[in-house]
Amino acid sequence: MLYYGGDYNPEQWPAEVWADDVALMRRAGVTAVTVGVFAWARLEPAEGRYEFGWLDRVLGLLHRAGIRVVLATPTASPPPWFSLAHPDALPVTAEGVRLCHGSRDTYCVSAPAYRAACRRIARALATRYGGHPALELWHVHNEYGTRCHCEHVATAFQRWLEDRYDTLDRLNEAWSAAFWSQWYGDWAQVLPPRATQYLPNPTQLLDFRRFLSDELLAAFTEQRAILREFAPGVPVTTNFALGDWVPVDHARWAREVDIVAIDHYPSAPGRTADEETALAGDLARSWARAAGRPWLLMEQAPGVVYTGRRMVPKAPGQLARHSLAHVARGSRGVMFFQWRAPRGGAERFHAAMVPHAGPESRVYREACELGALLGRLSTVDEPASAGVAILWDAQSWWAGEGPGLPSADPRYFDAVAAAHRVLWRAGFAIDFAGPEEDLSGYRLVVVPSLYLVTDAAADNLRGYVAGGGHLVVSFFSGIADADAQVRLGGYPGAFRELLGIRVEEFHPLAPDEPVALSTGDSGSVWSEYLHLAGAEAVASYAGGPLDGLPAVTRHGYRAGVAWYLSTRLDDTAHGRLLTGAAHAAGAAPVCAGLADGVEAVRPSGDGPLFLLNHTDQPVTVPASGVDLVTGRSVDGAVKLSAGGFAIVQERSPHIDPP
Ligand code: GAL
Repeated sequence: MLYYGGDYNPEQWPAEVWADDVALMRRAGVTAVTVGVFAWARLEPAEGRYEFGWLDRVLGLLHRAGIRVVLATPTASPPPWFSLAHPDALPVTAEGVRLCHGSRDTYCVSAPAYRAACRRIARALATRYGGHPALELWHVHNEYGTRCHCEHVATAFQRWLEDRYDTLDRLNEAWSAAFWSQWYGDWAQVLPPRATQYLPNPTQLLDFRRFLSDELLAAFTEQRAILREFAPGVPVTTNFALGDWVPVDHARWAREVDIVAIDHYPSAPGRTADEETALAGDLARSWARAAGRPWLLMEQAPGVVYTGRRMVPKAPGQLARHSLAHVARGSRGVMFFQWRAPRGGAERFHAAMVPHAGPESRVYREACELGALLGRLSTVDEPASAGVAILWDAQSWWAGEGPGLPSADPRYFDAVAAAHRVLWRAGFAIDFAGPEEDLSGYRLVVVPSLYLVTDAAADNLRGYVAGGGHLVVSFFSGIADADAQVRLGGYPGAFRELLGIRVEEFHPLAPDEPVALSTGDSGSVWSEYLHLAGAEAVASYAGGPLDGLPAVTRHGYRAGVAWYLSTRLDDTAHGRLLTGAAHAAGAAPVCAGLADGVEAVRPSGDGPLFLLNHTDQPVTVPASGVDLVTGRSVDGAVKLSAGGFAIVQERSPHIDPP
């Protein structure tokens, strides 16, 4: 069964609506819904007083309809009685403002009262529903990521730092605490980063994010242990939020969940949404693959794309295409936020499978079509590797966006997204890998702006290239060590020998100040005063203070090749370079000769070939087999309508008729 459904909030509706919900779910082919994510106040209206009757009825209705239940613990939104009884469990901002209930996620993860209340409600749910026949999966909390800077957090942070550094001397060294007289003489003096007079200590900030990731993880594993105790065998997960505000190292968390679940909301409509969808799917499946877990798209918006300022309706067919882009990458299904649009509350205008207009709507009709299609598919294996990987590291992201950097513009996620985008456009299947992971299976590894690099990662990359790997490193990589301290002797300290270069000075560029290159392309964001030390220049700066100096280099290192980009190439030039490097390394796109905007995803097993036409023109793609969408046989070519798709169960090209 593929999961198909979404967050279902029956507690927001009178019971008369529930039967209608279930009937509409069946019509839409819904197989699973997530229940109870924000229902704490209705489940435990006063401390220790539980009201499970309504949930019993809901689970019974769903079970009789054959709909599986992803049961949430509601701990992302403590009820008002809780925060009034335990004001010390309300979060405190870096400025020292204690927040009040009235929204959601208003808790301090380190507050003992909050943790105890979470354990209690998790245990109450687990004892009551652990053996329920509709229970499919536990969904702990929602999008862990809340920050707090209070005294509870200070104490927990101090314990975490003691564990990490053992002695204060080592902390003082790691934090460069001699700088600005920040030398600590007692663990109790070390605080979470709070509002301060000028630039804060960058390693303190980095460690705080590391700590938060671990602290939130401890809150998750505490609930997981309770759920496993009362419901052995039922998998446990939590949904990962993607975004730069999230202080969670997803690659590490992936090892702690039974199924990696992500929420994905593209930031802009059109092709950007298609590209971001592919990126999110590739990240999730890569975290899952490295952890040996399956994965699932737990939330997406059914009808619209949110741009921050306004909502833009998804183009017809985009909902299905985006969903299939995830399924093609191995997602165990397609889940939405949310089932039915509420009448009130902060998210009353959020998209839903049943919008305010009701089932007589395009979105519900599309949801029904998608449900019918998914009902005919089964789980597919993750895509076959094309031998191309992009390195991903949350800690490097956090460190590379701290205070006091030479420029605020080389945004890590932008750099990662740009590398993914241009390779995706060129039709490659793209994995993400950790910097210390075994890379020997990859022909090409791309390293976008990996500011912080551990010694082990530097050795790993050196060994990879020495063994014949091809590597493309972009600017502002390999600058700092695990303590976020600068590696000396010329940038990039971790990779000088490998890249055959030495960078003497950074020349960051203003946003409206592109730099011309000898190839006729242009660079932006960054430039560098770079010396060759074994590498050859492939492109040089043309004009400006760096006129004639190398901008892009290539270094044959032992059995492999290491490229370096000292500026951000525009997408065309970047795509040309990465595609050229991939081909030279022996990697090939999923399908040769696809039109721009047509995506092909081929699972590693014998699952079908997914062909997604993200353009507004019909296209024809070579393929043979049976199209699982139409049931028709495909002989040599399949026609995809504008915005359309096909799922071709291929005939093996190797079994030609005699
Ligand atoms: C998610 C969250 C949902 C809902 C949704 C709105 O991040 O988990 O509860 O708020 O965003 O887009």
